[in-house]
Amino acid sequence: MKDFTGKVLFITGGASGAGLGQAKLFSEAGCKVVIADIRQDHLDEAMAYFKDKKAPVHAIKLDITDRKAYAAAADEVEKVFGSPPQMLFNTAGVNAFGPAEASTFEDFDWVIGVNLIGVINGMVTFVPRMIKAGKGGYIVSTSSMSGFMAASGCTPYSVAKAGVNSLMECYYQALKPYGIGVSCLCPGGINTNIHEATFTRPKHLANTGYRVNQKTIEAEGKVNAQGMDPVELAKILKKGIENEQLFIIPSPDPERMLRFSLERIVNFATPEGMAKQAELMKQRMEEMRKHMGGKNPFAAAAEAGWGKAREDLTWIKERQGP
Ligand SMILES: NC(=O)c1ccc[n+]([C@@H]2O[C@H](COP(=O)([O-])OP(=O)(O)OC[C@H]3O[C@@H](n4cnc5c(N)ncnc54)[C@H](O)[C@@H]3O)[C@@H](O)[C@H]2O)c1
Repeated sequence: MKDFTGKVLFITGGASGAGLGQAKLFSEAGCKVVIADIRQDHLDEAMAYFKDKKAPVHAIKLDITDRKAYAAAADEVEKVFGSPPQMLFNTAGVNAFGPAEASTFEDFDWVIGVNLIGVINGMVTFVPRMIKAGKGGYIVSTSSMSGFMAASGCTPYSVAKAGVNSLMECYYQALKPYGIGVSCLCPGGINTNIHEATFTRPKHLANTGYRVNQKTIEAEGKVNAQGMDPVELAKILKKGIENEQLFIIPSPDPERMLRFSLERIVNFATPEGMAKQAELMKQRMEEMRKHMGGKNPFAAAAEAGWGKAREDLTWIKERQGP
Protein backbone atom coordinates (compact mmCIF):
# COMPACT_ATOMS: atom_id res chain seq x y z
CA MET A 1 0.00 0.00 0.00
CA LYS A 2 1.41 3.37 -0.99
CA ASP A 3 -1.49 5.81 -0.91
CA PHE A 4 -2.86 6.56 2.54
CA THR A 5 -5.07 9.52 1.57
CA GLY A 6 -8.58 9.26 3.02
CA LYS A 7 -8.01 5.74 4.45
CA VAL A 8 -9.78 5.01 7.73
CA LEU A 9 -7.16 3.69 10.17
CA PHE A 10 -8.07 2.07 13.52
CA ILE A 11 -5.20 1.99 16.03
CA THR A 12 -5.44 0.15 19.35
CA GLY A 13 -3.24 1.71 22.00
CA GLY A 14 -3.32 4.75 19.73
CA ALA A 15 -3.26 7.25 22.58
CA SER A 16 0.30 6.62 23.80
CA GLY A 17 3.78 5.54 22.81
CA ALA A 18 4.19 3.55 19.58
CA GLY A 19 0.44 3.79 18.76
CA LEU A 20 0.39 7.56 19.20
CA GLY A 21 3.50 7.85 17.00
CA GLN A 22 1.63 5.87 14.33
CA ALA A 23 -1.48 8.06 14.74
CA LYS A 24 0.58 11.24 14.29
CA LEU A 25 2.51 10.03 11.24
CA PHE A 26 -0.39 8.37 9.39
CA SER A 27 -2.72 11.29 10.16
CA GLU A 28 -0.15 13.53 8.46
CA ALA A 29 -0.06 11.03 5.57
CA GLY A 30 -3.80 11.64 5.02
CA CYS A 31 -5.54 8.92 7.05
CA LYS A 32 -8.73 9.43 9.06
CA VAL A 33 -7.60 7.94 12.34
CA VAL A 34 -9.45 6.25 15.20
CA ILE A 35 -7.42 5.94 18.39
CA ALA A 36 -8.78 3.26 20.73
CA ASP A 37 -7.31 2.98 24.20
CA ILE A 38 -8.17 1.77 27.69
CA ARG A 39 -6.79 4.94 29.35
CA GLN A 40 -9.04 8.00 29.21
CA ASP A 41 -6.18 10.31 30.31
CA HIS A 42 -4.05 9.10 27.38
CA LEU A 43 -7.00 9.65 25.00
CA ASP A 44 -7.62 13.17 26.33
CA GLU A 45 -3.97 14.17 25.95
CA ALA A 46 -3.73 12.72 22.46
CA MET A 47 -6.99 14.39 21.35
CA ALA A 48 -5.75 17.78 22.57
CA TYR A 49 -2.80 17.33 20.17
CA PHE A 50 -4.98 16.31 17.20
CA LYS A 51 -7.61 19.03 17.84
CA ASP A 52 -4.80 21.56 17.69
CA LYS A 53 -3.80 20.15 14.29
CA LYS A 54 -7.48 20.08 13.16
CA ALA A 55 -6.86 16.47 12.09
CA PRO A 56 -9.77 14.05 11.48
CA VAL A 57 -9.09 11.85 14.51
CA HIS A 58 -11.75 10.12 16.61
CA ALA A 59 -11.17 8.65 20.09
CA ILE A 60 -12.84 5.54 21.51
CA LYS A 61 -12.33 4.22 25.03
CA LEU A 62 -11.90 0.49 24.57
CA ASP A 63 -10.50 -2.48 26.43
CA ILE A 64 -9.39 -4.79 23.61
CA THR A 65 -9.97 -7.87 25.77
CA ASP A 66 -13.72 -7.04 25.87
CA ARG A 67 -15.19 -8.57 22.69
CA LYS A 68 -18.65 -6.96 23.01
CA ALA A 69 -17.10 -3.53 23.46
CA TYR A 70 -14.82 -4.23 20.50
CA ALA A 71 -17.83 -4.95 18.24
CA ALA A 72 -19.50 -1.73 19.46
CA ALA A 73 -16.29 0.19 18.67
CA ALA A 74 -16.30 -1.25 15.14
CA ASP A 75 -19.93 -0.10 14.70
CA GLU A 76 -18.96 3.36 15.98
CA VAL A 77 -16.18 3.64 13.36
CA GLU A 78 -18.70 2.89 10.58
CA LYS A 79 -21.07 5.54 11.96
CA VAL A 80 -18.37 8.19 12.32
CA PHE A 81 -16.40 7.62 9.11
CA GLY A 82 -19.03 5.89 6.94
CA SER A 83 -17.18 2.59 6.39
CA PRO A 84 -15.16 -0.06 8.21
CA PRO A 85 -11.49 0.82 8.45
CA GLN A 86 -9.28 0.03 5.46
CA MET A 87 -6.36 -0.10 7.87
CA LEU A 88 -6.02 -1.73 11.29
CA PHE A 89 -3.02 -1.38 13.59
CA ASN A 90 -3.09 -3.74 16.59
CA THR A 91 -0.64 -1.81 18.73
CA ALA A 92 -1.98 -1.86 22.31
CA GLY A 93 0.18 -3.93 24.61
CA VAL A 94 1.31 -4.37 28.20
CA ASN A 95 4.37 -5.95 29.76
CA ALA A 96 5.47 -7.47 33.05
CA PHE A 97 8.96 -8.58 34.04
CA GLY A 98 10.04 -11.33 36.42
CA PRO A 99 11.43 -14.87 36.43
CA ALA A 100 9.37 -17.42 34.47
CA GLU A 101 9.10 -19.69 37.51
CA ALA A 102 7.52 -16.88 39.57
CA SER A 103 4.73 -16.29 37.03
CA THR A 104 1.15 -16.70 38.29
CA PHE A 105 -1.89 -17.70 36.25
CA GLU A 106 -2.91 -14.07 36.45
CA ASP A 107 0.42 -12.90 34.96
CA PHE A 108 -0.23 -15.18 31.98
CA ASP A 109 -3.93 -14.30 31.74
CA TRP A 110 -3.34 -10.56 31.75
CA VAL A 111 -0.29 -10.32 29.47
CA ILE A 112 -1.43 -12.95 26.97
CA GLY A 113 -5.02 -11.64 27.25
CA VAL A 114 -4.02 -8.16 26.04
CA ASN A 115 -1.00 -8.90 23.81
CA LEU A 116 -2.23 -11.98 21.98
CA ILE A 117 -5.97 -12.44 22.56
CA GLY A 118 -6.45 -8.67 22.21
CA VAL A 119 -4.84 -8.86 18.76
CA ILE A 120 -6.97 -11.88 17.87
CA ASN A 121 -10.04 -9.89 18.95
CA GLY A 122 -8.99 -7.14 16.52
CA MET A 123 -8.58 -9.63 13.68
CA VAL A 124 -11.87 -11.47 14.27
CA THR A 125 -13.79 -8.20 14.70
CA PHE A 126 -12.40 -6.36 11.68
CA VAL A 127 -11.21 -8.86 9.05
CA PRO A 128 -14.73 -9.97 7.96
CA ARG A 129 -15.90 -6.34 7.87
CA MET A 130 -12.87 -5.35 5.75
CA ILE A 131 -13.36 -8.26 3.34
CA LYS A 132 -17.11 -7.55 2.95
CA ALA A 133 -16.38 -3.86 2.26
CA GLY A 134 -14.31 -5.09 -0.71
CA LYS A 135 -11.78 -2.25 -0.65
CA GLY A 136 -8.68 -4.24 0.29
CA GLY A 137 -6.57 -2.71 3.02
CA TYR A 138 -3.68 -3.20 5.37
CA ILE A 139 -3.23 -4.71 8.85
CA VAL A 140 -0.23 -4.32 11.15
CA SER A 141 0.35 -5.84 14.57
CA THR A 142 3.07 -4.50 16.78
CA SER A 143 4.95 -7.46 18.18
CA SER A 144 8.49 -7.31 19.58
CA MET A 145 11.95 -8.76 19.05
CA SER A 146 11.24 -10.81 22.18
CA GLY A 147 8.72 -12.77 20.10
CA PHE A 148 11.73 -14.31 18.35
CA MET A 149 13.84 -14.74 21.46
CA ALA A 150 12.09 -16.67 24.26
CA ALA A 151 13.10 -14.19 26.98
CA SER A 152 12.66 -15.93 30.35
CA GLY A 153 12.58 -12.57 32.19
CA CYS A 154 9.24 -11.74 30.55
CA THR A 155 7.84 -15.17 29.65
CA PRO A 156 4.12 -14.33 29.19
CA TYR A 157 5.13 -11.35 27.01
CA SER A 158 7.55 -13.42 24.92
CA VAL A 159 4.96 -16.17 24.46
CA ALA A 160 2.29 -13.66 23.44
CA LYS A 161 4.58 -11.93 20.94
CA ALA A 162 5.73 -15.25 19.42
CA GLY A 163 2.01 -16.01 18.99
CA VAL A 164 1.45 -12.64 17.31
CA ASN A 165 4.32 -13.31 14.86
CA SER A 166 2.75 -16.61 13.87
CA LEU A 167 -0.77 -15.16 13.76
CA MET A 168 0.28 -12.41 11.37
CA GLU A 169 2.08 -14.83 9.06
CA CYS A 170 -1.08 -16.99 8.89
CA TYR A 171 -3.23 -13.96 8.06
CA TYR A 172 -0.61 -12.71 5.57
CA GLN A 173 -1.18 -15.86 3.53
CA ALA A 174 -4.96 -15.88 4.01
CA LEU A 175 -5.68 -12.23 3.20
CA LYS A 176 -3.62 -11.93 0.01
CA PRO A 177 -6.55 -12.93 -2.27
CA TYR A 178 -8.62 -10.10 -0.75
CA GLY A 179 -5.98 -7.44 -1.41
CA ILE A 180 -5.37 -6.97 2.30
CA GLY A 181 -1.69 -6.67 3.18
CA VAL A 182 -0.29 -7.77 6.53
CA SER A 183 2.81 -6.76 8.48
CA CYS A 184 4.24 -7.57 11.86
CA LEU A 185 6.36 -4.83 13.42
CA CYS A 186 9.05 -6.22 15.76
CA PRO A 187 10.85 -3.38 17.57
CA GLY A 188 13.48 -3.53 20.30
CA GLY A 189 13.29 -0.66 22.84
CA ILE A 190 10.91 2.27 22.27
CA ASN A 191 10.65 5.43 24.37
CA THR A 192 7.06 5.03 25.60
CA ASN A 193 4.90 4.80 28.73
CA ILE A 194 4.83 0.99 28.83
CA HIS A 195 6.41 0.99 32.32
CA GLU A 196 2.99 2.26 33.49
CA ALA A 197 1.20 -0.77 32.05
CA THR A 198 0.54 -2.16 35.52
CA PHE A 199 -1.90 0.74 36.15
CA THR A 200 -4.29 -0.78 33.57
CA ARG A 201 -4.12 -4.29 35.04
CA PRO A 202 -7.63 -5.45 36.00
CA LYS A 203 -8.31 -6.08 39.72
CA HIS A 204 -9.30 -9.71 39.20
CA LEU A 205 -5.88 -10.36 37.60
CA ALA A 206 -3.88 -8.37 40.17
CA ASN A 207 -2.07 -11.38 41.71
CA THR A 208 1.48 -11.25 40.31
CA GLY A 209 4.60 -13.24 41.10
CA TYR A 210 6.83 -10.35 40.03
CA ARG A 211 8.22 -7.41 41.99
CA VAL A 212 6.21 -4.32 41.06
CA ASN A 213 6.44 -1.09 43.04
CA GLN A 214 7.17 2.60 42.50
CA LYS A 215 10.93 1.91 42.33
CA THR A 216 10.65 -0.85 39.71
CA ILE A 217 8.24 1.25 37.62
CA GLU A 218 10.64 4.21 37.67
CA ALA A 219 13.62 1.95 36.91
CA GLU A 220 11.84 0.48 33.89
CA GLY A 221 10.88 3.99 32.80
CA LYS A 222 14.59 4.93 32.69
CA VAL A 223 15.36 1.87 30.55
CA ASN A 224 12.47 2.73 28.20
CA ALA A 225 13.66 6.33 27.88
CA GLN A 226 16.75 5.01 26.07
CA GLY A 227 14.53 3.46 23.38
CA MET A 228 13.68 4.74 19.93
CA ASP A 229 11.36 7.67 19.24
CA PRO A 230 7.79 6.47 18.40
CA VAL A 231 7.39 8.76 15.36
CA GLU A 232 10.75 7.58 13.97
CA LEU A 233 9.51 4.01 14.46
CA ALA A 234 6.29 4.89 12.63
CA LYS A 235 8.37 6.16 9.69
CA ILE A 236 10.10 2.77 9.47
CA LEU A 237 6.69 1.11 9.67
CA LYS A 238 5.37 3.28 6.82
CA LYS A 239 8.27 2.26 4.61
CA GLY A 240 7.66 -1.39 5.50
CA ILE A 241 3.97 -1.06 4.54
CA GLU A 242 4.91 0.62 1.27
CA ASN A 243 7.18 -2.36 0.53
CA GLU A 244 4.49 -4.79 1.80
CA GLN A 245 7.04 -6.50 4.03
CA LEU A 246 5.63 -9.18 6.37
CA PHE A 247 8.21 -8.67 9.14
CA ILE A 248 9.45 -5.15 9.83
CA ILE A 249 12.52 -5.16 12.09
CA PRO A 250 13.71 -1.68 13.03
CA SER A 251 17.39 -2.51 13.41
CA PRO A 252 20.47 -1.43 11.43
CA ASP A 253 21.16 -5.10 10.63
CA PRO A 254 17.87 -7.04 10.82
CA GLU A 255 19.26 -10.07 9.02
CA ARG A 256 22.05 -10.60 11.55
CA MET A 257 19.64 -10.10 14.44
CA LEU A 258 17.15 -12.61 13.06
CA ARG A 259 19.80 -15.16 12.10
CA PHE A 260 21.17 -15.08 15.63
CA SER A 261 17.79 -15.61 17.26
CA LEU A 262 16.50 -18.21 14.79
CA GLU A 263 19.72 -20.24 14.56
CA ARG A 264 19.39 -21.02 18.25
CA ILE A 265 16.43 -23.28 17.44
CA VAL A 266 18.56 -25.22 14.96
CA ASN A 267 21.31 -25.45 17.60
CA PHE A 268 18.95 -26.49 20.39
CA ALA A 269 17.85 -29.48 18.30
CA THR A 270 21.16 -31.44 18.48
CA PRO A 271 23.62 -32.30 21.30
CA GLU A 272 26.52 -30.60 19.46
CA GLY A 273 24.33 -27.58 18.79
CA MET A 274 23.54 -27.21 22.52
CA ALA A 275 27.26 -26.67 23.27
CA LYS A 276 27.66 -24.39 20.24
CA GLN A 277 24.73 -22.27 21.41
CA ALA A 278 26.17 -21.88 24.92
CA GLU A 279 29.42 -20.60 23.36
CA LEU A 280 27.52 -18.26 21.01
CA MET A 281 25.54 -16.82 23.94
CA LYS A 282 28.79 -16.05 25.81
CA GLN A 283 30.21 -14.32 22.72
CA ARG A 284 27.00 -12.38 22.20
CA MET A 285 26.94 -11.16 25.82
CA GLU A 286 30.58 -10.10 25.49
CA GLU A 287 29.77 -8.20 22.25
CA MET A 288 26.85 -6.47 23.96
CA ARG A 289 28.99 -5.48 26.96
CA LYS A 290 31.62 -4.02 24.63
CA HIS A 291 28.94 -2.17 22.65
CA MET A 292 27.70 -0.65 25.92
CA GLY A 293 31.23 0.46 26.90
CA GLY A 294 31.63 -2.36 29.42
CA LYS A 295 28.42 -1.42 31.24
CA ASN A 296 25.36 -3.58 31.90
CA PRO A 297 22.47 -1.33 30.73
CA PHE A 298 20.09 -3.08 33.12
CA ALA A 299 22.31 -2.97 36.23
CA ALA A 300 20.66 0.07 37.84
CA ALA A 301 17.18 -1.25 37.05
CA ALA A 302 18.04 -4.70 38.50
CA GLU A 303 19.40 -2.95 41.59
CA ALA A 304 15.97 -1.32 42.01
CA GLY A 305 14.35 -4.78 41.88
CA TRP A 306 13.05 -4.61 38.31
CA GLY A 307 12.69 -8.08 36.78
CA LYS A 308 12.86 -9.85 40.13
CA ALA A 309 10.37 -12.11 41.86
CA ARG A 310 7.96 -10.88 44.54
CA GLU A 311 9.90 -10.60 47.84
CA ASP A 312 7.99 -13.39 49.61
CA LEU A 313 8.85 -16.00 46.92
CA THR A 314 12.04 -16.96 48.75
CA TRP A 315 12.41 -20.30 46.88
CA ILE A 316 13.39 -18.47 43.70
CA LYS A 317 17.10 -18.12 42.83
CA GLU A 318 18.31 -14.51 42.50
CA ARG A 319 19.38 -13.31 39.06
CA GLN A 320 20.55 -10.12 37.41
CA GLY A 321 17.20 -8.75 36.14
CA PRO A 322 15.63 -9.53 32.74
N1 LIG B 1 8.23 0.13 24.69
C1 LIG B 1 9.01 -0.80 24.19
O1 LIG B 1 10.23 -0.83 24.45
C2 LIG B 1 8.44 -1.84 23.24
C3 LIG B 1 9.32 -2.69 22.58
C4 LIG B 1 8.81 -3.62 21.67
C5 LIG B 1 7.44 -3.69 21.45
N2 LIG B 1 6.61 -2.85 22.12
C6 LIG B 1 5.17 -2.97 21.87
O2 LIG B 1 4.67 -1.73 21.42
C7 LIG B 1 3.26 -1.72 21.65
C8 LIG B 1 2.84 -0.37 22.20
O3 LIG B 1 3.37 -0.22 23.50
P1 LIG B 1 4.12 1.10 23.96
O4 LIG B 1 5.51 0.71 24.29
O5 LIG B 1 3.85 2.18 23.04
O6 LIG B 1 3.41 1.36 25.37
P2 LIG B 1 2.45 2.52 25.91
O7 LIG B 1 2.06 2.09 27.27
O8 LIG B 1 3.07 3.86 25.77
O9 LIG B 1 1.20 2.43 24.92
C9 LIG B 1 0.33 1.34 24.95
C10 LIG B 1 -1.11 1.84 25.02
O10 LIG B 1 -1.96 0.68 25.03
C11 LIG B 1 -3.00 0.91 25.96
N3 LIG B 1 -3.58 -0.36 26.46
C12 LIG B 1 -3.06 -1.19 27.38
N4 LIG B 1 -3.92 -2.22 27.60
C13 LIG B 1 -5.00 -2.00 26.78
C14 LIG B 1 -6.21 -2.69 26.57
N5 LIG B 1 -6.52 -3.81 27.26
N6 LIG B 1 -7.08 -2.20 25.68
C15 LIG B 1 -6.80 -1.04 25.00
N7 LIG B 1 -5.68 -0.34 25.18
C16 LIG B 1 -4.78 -0.82 26.07
C17 LIG B 1 -2.35 1.71 27.09
O11 LIG B 1 -3.31 2.44 27.85
C18 LIG B 1 -1.40 2.63 26.31
O12 LIG B 1 -2.02 3.87 26.02
C19 LIG B 1 2.96 -2.89 22.55
O13 LIG B 1 2.37 -3.93 21.82
C20 LIG B 1 4.32 -3.29 23.06
O14 LIG B 1 4.38 -4.64 23.41
C21 LIG B 1 7.06 -1.93 23.00
